Amino acid sequence: MSDPKIVKLLDESSNRSSELPLVSGTLGPACIDIGTLYKDTGHFTYDPGFGSTASTKSAITYIDGDKGVLLYRGYPIEQLAENSSFLEVAYLLLNGELPKPAEFASFEHDVSHHTMMHESLKNFFQGFHHDAHPMAMLAAAVASLSAFYHDDLSVDDPADRKLAAIRLIAKMPTIAAACYRYSVGWPLRYPRNNLEYVDRFLHMMFEVPSEPLQMNPVAAKALDLLFILHADHEQNASTSTVRLVGSTGANPYASIAAGITALWGPAHGGANEAVLKQLEEIGTPDNVESAILRAKDKNDSFRLMGFGHRVYKNFDPRAKIIREMCHKVLAELGVNDPLLDVAMKLEEAALKDDYFVERKLYPNVDFYSGIIYKALGIPTEMFTVMFAIARTSGWIAHWIEQHETPGSRIGRPRQVYTGADVRDYVPTARR
Ligand code: CMC
Repeated sequence: MSDPKIVKLLDESSNRSSELPLVSGTLGPACIDIGTLYKDTGHFTYDPGFGSTASTKSAITYIDGDKGVLLYRGYPIEQLAENSSFLEVAYLLLNGELPKPAEFASFEHDVSHHTMMHESLKNFFQGFHHDAHPMAMLAAAVASLSAFYHDDLSVDDPADRKLAAIRLIAKMPTIAAACYRYSVGWPLRYPRNNLEYVDRFLHMMFEVPSEPLQMNPVAAKALDLLFILHADHEQNASTSTVRLVGSTGANPYASIAAGITALWGPAHGGANEAVLKQLEEIGTPDNVESAILRAKDKNDSFRLMGFGHRVYKNFDPRAKIIREMCHKVLAELGVNDPLLDVAMKLEEAALKDDYFVERKLYPNVDFYSGIIYKALGIPTEMFTVMFAIARTSGWIAHWIEQHETPGSRIGRPRQVYTGADVRDYVPTARR
């Protein structure tokens, strides 16, 4: 009987073979370790979009896409959503364990004492046109943190890595709020460290010098929950980007800025902005049927935004929580948004349509989140920025894990070359 821990692969054309060990994690399917495949057989593997490829080992987040399970450090997302706070989740992602009270107090103190931006960073915003997309400003401002903190940072020093993590988690809301305020022409607002993380952010967003802000506590609670749900999602496109950039030894600010730009695309975090724009375009529940027809038409590039997921072939567990929360938040804030009716009709129609059923396309995390952001007064173009604030905790946890893993190598995929065969240079006169 063959060893169950080995997969044997025979290339019949060359009669060369490879014995590939299986690598098992705590949960999830075992992976075939193909590290020796090229040496043994002379072949690479081909998997565009990484549909079957694990790029790393990681102990941070686990997803079972068929069952609709999401765990941060082993804790089900439903339990964290019910009982935890975003900052506690950030601690958990970074450190692997839930904090004891003194550990949390110290973490909260550290985060709240790194919230200010360098005064010179403010000047960067003046360089943008007033209608610049906030994701463009965010990516640029975060990349520019490298210019402020690069010289005294060693990516090989655990204390420096931790400091970078604290700085990023602390400053991201300050920078995000600055992007918004610049676009509306308000003076930038300093962080108030006596407030909790999400409250502090909402004050930086919405408080004007002329009057105090009356903030409904429901808004802070809702945003905190959305931040928990967006905090990490294992090797998604932006996290993989952070890891790929991080694998070169680039500093954490440059690595996270790359993650922000990867997140921006509408197939990834940009979907929340795209969902709201699409719901507005659909306009009324009466137009849902024609939107579904367009989404199914292979000659039309139109897709239902906020639907489908590479990993979830069942309900995205985050979408379930957000859907319920959406109704609650709108009721508590006294908001009557007709877009919610459009979204519900769209979901209902898609979930009983064969096209969506056969392809296992369910609402994802972005489907209802935009309606909540809108109810909180957050402008549509800031939605993906909200996602980025939360995901920074996951990105930096992955960046640290990568640097703590012995034997990490630069990420360097191979390719199937489809260009011209070797040929001789043709002088201009003979072309
Ligand atoms: N509307 C219509 N058809 C769809 C959709 C959709 N939203 N999503 C997938 N399909 C179809 C697709 O055309 C394909 O059909 P066929 O088998 O006939 O060619 C099939 O379903 C499989 O789709 P895929 O594009 O191969 O799947 P993927 O795993 O490469 O892409 C996805 C996943 C999320 C990019 C895609 O579902 C999508 O574009 N969804 C809309 C954008 C969106 O909501 N993105 C947010 C994802 S969750 C949050 C995050 O990652 O940040």
